[in-house]
Amino acid sequence: MSGTKLLDAIRAVVGARGLLTDPADTAAYTQDWRRLYQGRTPAVIRPADTAELAEVVRLCAAARAPLVPQGGNTSMVGGATPDADGSQLVLSMARLNRVRAIDPIDLTMTIEAGVTLKAAQVAAAEANCLLPLSISSEGSAQIGGVLATNAGGNNTVRYGNARDLVLGLEVVLPDGQVWNGLRRLRKDNTGYCLRQLFVGSEGTLGVITAAVLKLAPRPRETAVALCAVGSAEAALELFSRFQAHDPGAVQAFEFMSGIGVGFVLKHIEGAVLPLGQAGGPGRPGSAGQAGVQYVLVELATPRPDGGLRAMLEAVLEQALGDEIVMDAAIAESEAQRAAIWRLREEHSEAQKREGASVKNDVSVPVSKVPEFIRRATAACEALMPGIRAVPFGHLGDGNIHFNLEQPEGGDPAWFLAQDHSIMDTVNAVVRALDGSFSAEHGIGRLKPYMMPDWRGGAELGIMRQIKHALDPLGIMNPGKVLP
Ligand code: MLT
Ligand code: ZN
Repeated sequence: MSGTKLLDAIRAVVGARGLLTDPADTAAYTQDWRRLYQGRTPAVIRPADTAELAEVVRLCAAARAPLVPQGGNTSMVGGATPDADGSQLVLSMARLNRVRAIDPIDLTMTIEAGVTLKAAQVAAAEANCLLPLSISSEGSAQIGGVLATNAGGNNTVRYGNARDLVLGLEVVLPDGQVWNGLRRLRKDNTGYCLRQLFVGSEGTLGVITAAVLKLAPRPRETAVALCAVGSAEAALELFSRFQAHDPGAVQAFEFMSGIGVGFVLKHIEGAVLPLGQAGGPGRPGSAGQAGVQYVLVELATPRPDGGLRAMLEAVLEQALGDEIVMDAAIAESEAQRAAIWRLREEHSEAQKREGASVKNDVSVPVSKVPEFIRRATAACEALMPGIRAVPFGHLGDGNIHFNLEQPEGGDPAWFLAQDHSIMDTVNAVVRALDGSFSAEHGIGRLKPYMMPDWRGGAELGIMRQIKHALDPLGIMNPGKVLP
């Protein structure tokens, strides 16, 4: 089938409003959020439901036309961007945007792929439940993409990552068949666990169209504090103290470097640091060494008599006395809680405004986070004088975003061209500490080159066989994940 005939056949399935071909309309779908990748596409397809989407995939399989599934387009690794050759069709999930069911007794939510994570959280809250997945891009990121990349985010320390929250999936397979695995069972040992194959597959094995997610009881009490600490070691010690008090209460434990908080205060309008002199922004370049760093701790409980505030005060008071914490501010209102979270959630945006940055989404054992930050900072500074390490992220689960900002006044294009040598330098430290080069962002287009080195031998072989078994024509998100 010619390209025009294929698009005509697709239009007959999805209707005129389900197919965008004007470059002015498709432009937003061909570039990633970080503006690292600029691709081309003949069309963006926007099916209204699973049946339409399955028919589109069937037509594309018959025509051997490659498809790039795209949710909120918030990938940090170019996972949802078409390549430059102009043949890949973008499959937007935006119109599959219904919450199909919420069951507060089963504590489950059945939801379509195009619902934003924020909208899903709100729907769960309206049913007096909690969808315990939270990421900085949740206002735009969609459920399908969140699952396809096995997103982690801020609450992994307590509830696990996206994978841990999935009970069932509905998936359109690369030949257009629909697999309806929307089960709501807590126990189900009927053969291979297929749903987990699609979670984290980044759209290379099929298209997730709906999911059954686990919910949790809605917290009745929440307490948030921002703490200034003198080092990542102190941050880890504080984490251990909270965990020792009540491991079930820590809902988020986030680390921020002084330089990263400085960028937020510099670039994000209205951002404020609710700490006095001792907790003022750290000296630029201080990441991993002496200098002020920050911790955001959030405690939450569904118990009515949780006593969280008292626990927070007790742990912080002792840590201040022991000089683990230099200064701390406890949120007294929802507005203060939001202001503290803003310092953390605007990190990526602030870094983008500061200049070019190379991202490393790594994980190491929690106990090794301080050592990792120290060693990786030193290795990068040895590689490139003036480079600025901006480590931040989910200390409570060992996932640090070890981002490197270009030297001040340097050429951004030159800096970005060094991305492989910077990533390889960081990952040498990650490997020495038994970590992973991709904790929660996925592989996308940015990192397939690393796969043979990290997941070589039997592991890469199995992955290739699975890909071939499910997608023998290689039409699903080509060029992503596997080299
Ligand atoms: C976050 O946790 O804010 C994002 O995953 C991180 C990033 O920008 O690297
Ligand atoms: Zn993150």
